[in-house]
Amino acid sequence: MTWIDLAPVRVTSKDVLDSIYRGYIAGIRRQSLDSELRFCRQKAVAGNLGQPDFAWLCNVLLTTRSLASVGKGYLMPRGLGALEAYGRVKSYAMRIAQILFVDRLVKHGFHEAVDAGSFASTINEIADKIKDRAIHNRGPIEDDEARFFAVLFVFQLVFDRKFVPDHDIVSCHRGGSGRHRVISDWARAIAYLKYTNTAVVDAPGELRNLCYEITTGWSRGIDIETWNKLNDSYYSGKSMATGKKNVFAAHYDVILERMLPQFAMSKILLAERIIKDLKRLCRPVRVVDIGAGSGAMAINLLMAAHEAGLPAGRIQYLGLEPCRSMINKFKSNFKSKAHCPPPAGWEVRPGSLERAIDALPPSDGRPTWACFSYCLHHCFHKSVELFFTSPEVQSSFSRIYALDVVAEHGWLKPFYTWVDCESPENFDNVAIHGPWRVVDVWNHPSDPIAATAVTNAWCSCRILEP
Ligand SMILES: C[S@@+](CC[C@H](N)C(=O)[O-])C[C@H]1O[C@@H](n2cnc3c(N)ncnc32)[C@H](O)[C@@H]1O
Repeated sequence: MTWIDLAPVRVTSKDVLDSIYRGYIAGIRRQSLDSELRFCRQKAVAGNLGQPDFAWLCNVLLTTRSLASVGKGYLMPRGLGALEAYGRVKSYAMRIAQILFVDRLVKHGFHEAVDAGSFASTINEIADKIKDRAIHNRGPIEDDEARFFAVLFVFQLVFDRKFVPDHDIVSCHRGGSGRHRVISDWARAIAYLKYTNTAVVDAPGELRNLCYEITTGWSRGIDIETWNKLNDSYYSGKSMATGKKNVFAAHYDVILERMLPQFAMSKILLAERIIKDLKRLCRPVRVVDIGAGSGAMAINLLMAAHEAGLPAGRIQYLGLEPCRSMINKFKSNFKSKAHCPPPAGWEVRPGSLERAIDALPPSDGRPTWACFSYCLHHCFHKSVELFFTSPEVQSSFSRIYALDVVAEHGWLKPFYTWVDCESPENFDNVAIHGPWRVVDVWNHPSDPIAATAVTNAWCSCRILEP
């Protein structure tokens, strides 16, 4: 890990207990299959997990998944609804990701990044607290497990302090001037990406299979209704594992873009591309942003239009988003990032990929472009296939912009963000395009990080045309 500055960081137990991870600590308790995971947690704190362990973990995850679809056994008691059963599978996937995260960091000597003077006492204090919480939550855990969780949270906090700046890396200028790039600390923040790429290079097949199952394969057998409810629950900010706030979705707009500024940057590049294409067309266009979240793309489009000297009126923006709590944040998010309200008529409405055609206003002759910004891997697999093969979609949209993470980086997320492994996702979706003609716009970054990496790119932008 030579490219990481391992200069020791001091972390107190109070820092950990007050951190954004406090919900996970407050909700900790023994859960089904925890006794089976115990030996892996013990090996992880020593950095000793090997290929047979990865294969074994993959096997138990797949067994749990198969039980979820039939709802039987002590892991999935009869009568458990599909939502809760798959919620358990996903929360189990996240708990395996925690094990991989610790194992990986220990193997890389990450303990050197924690102040040696305070390490032992901090771990002991947090482990005691964790044991108390587990008793309080009626799921007592053993000393060695409490120690595993203490190491997990201390490492996580040090990891964040090393890589996640406490300020925005990419942001909008005040006054809606259209200038939106303020980049500082870029190299430090994208170290997350480098970290994952190292993991890609090193990972043995068993570990890669396990990561694939945690992030993608877990969903085989699930029905659309359960999938969409899991998505709603996730983006409403609730952790299935703890019943407490799920860190990623609850702090989505702030944390994600600081942890992975490539996200923010690639969205700006996409908005600039759309505006450039629109300018060339010389007529107004409707842009339908499917899976709009809280409207990040709307903000970037407005900024890019300002910068290009294009009146906002040339774009009719409509965001479709299934999760109500994301829609509710649209206006405030817009104001705080763009420093102005959304242009008249720009809105995010309840809607989805499945119902995108029904949500379209009657055609007024303007070309209609669809846009997906990091949405496709969140959708139900079959729905994505149906969308891209639907003749109605082909006749309604003259172009589709699709920005998403490159699949390998999706399924390697356990290495750098176990908190997000509860999210219902399927990275096989990003390659689907049906009969559409695909133009690869860019991969970002385009320069190789390691010659042997599976892929050098982290995200990719495609344009699909009929
Ligand atoms: C990673 S967020 C991206 C949000 C936004 N596009 C952005 O760039 O910030 C993924 C979004 O996809 C949405 N999503 C999930 N399933 C969907 C579906 N079937 N149709 C449309 N959107 C969906 C989620 O609710 C979530 O808001």
